[in-house]
Amino acid sequence: TGGPIVLGIESTCDETAAAIVQGGTLRSNVVASSMDEHARYGGVIPEIASRAHAQAFVPVVSKALADAGLEVSDVDAIAVSAGPGLAGCLAVGVSGAKALGWAAGKPVYGVNHVIGHVAVTQLQFGALPANTMALIVSGGHTSLLHVEDIARHVDVVGTTLDDAAGECFDKVARLLGFPYPGGPHIDRHAQRGDSHAIHVPQGLTQGRAGKQHPYDFSFSGVKTAVARWIEERKAAGEPIPVDDVCASLAASVADVLAKKAMRGCAQYDADTLIVGGGFSANSQLRQALLTAGEEHGVDVRLPRIALCTDNGAMVAMLGSNLVQAGITPSSTDFPIDSAMP
Ligand code: KG4
Ligand code: ZN
Repeated sequence: TGGPIVLGIESTCDETAAAIVQGGTLRSNVVASSMDEHARYGGVIPEIASRAHAQAFVPVVSKALADAGLEVSDVDAIAVSAGPGLAGCLAVGVSGAKALGWAAGKPVYGVNHVIGHVAVTQLQFGALPANTMALIVSGGHTSLLHVEDIARHVDVVGTTLDDAAGECFDKVARLLGFPYPGGPHIDRHAQRGDSHAIHVPQGLTQGRAGKQHPYDFSFSGVKTAVARWIEERKAAGEPIPVDDVCASLAASVADVLAKKAMRGCAQYDADTLIVGGGFSANSQLRQALLTAGEEHGVDVRLPRIALCTDNGAMVAMLGSNLVQAGITPSSTDFPIDSAMP
């Protein structure tokens, strides 16, 4: 395999991850998660996550290099997620990457984590077509992007105005008594339920009243509607049909995501849709996207789950795109940006 050797480092949330990509090939991929430490709190605790990154950074990066049979002196560049994410978590990964780059005399790229979710699909499907759409959905982000050139030009076409899709699932899951993160439990129960059993509003199908935001999403109203329905049943002393609640919620969210993604493809005349982020593990969304893709003649690129969730490969692959595009890091002292667009 040829091409530049890039070490990618990821620490935006609860995963400390590092990977080596050479050209379009993944040579190693190491992920450590602190999720077990957060589960009992019902959400990721930033302070715990930051400490876990500080502990895991050296072992994870060392293992990624060792698994690829490399020393840091062998890499051509280092890439690290500089945002969006939890500030304390980003600070650990970015400081570590800068220190390593300085010590080894290697360029360090601070990259956008969400664009990394797009880039990583190249490891499974090959290079991106020049004009593609991307739907990136997780517990932290819900973004519809137009990708003209992954190294230079990515536009935000739509985003969530409140909760991310995964966050909405996690909140409803909590009401139903599932442990955190509850998204996968909803997925499993939804497979046995009736998706027409209860009426769940679709998250902002038209855009905000009076404004043109046809590609934005809103999931907090969806969560509230389901919560109210559950409370009314409880108050009336009636049992909660858990499978049906899950199926109705999952169908509504999958539907609006697939619909807007397809509408975006038509708008930008794109015949490829890249999908990524932890929520793209959701089986209802995967099915809805594949069905809609067939109907609209769009090639839907759904990567294997290990590439959908946060990892170092996404960062390394995006770094590789930057190196191959001849772009040099703009500064050796770039800041973290927890709200990076
Ligand atoms: O990308 P990720 O691992 O972490 C974030 O950056 O958020 O995504 C995790 C999110 C959580 O909200 C989790 O509940 C959700 O994705 N999730 C799922 C499924 N697998 C993970 N939601 C629904 N169905 C699933 N199968
Ligand atoms: Zn992510």
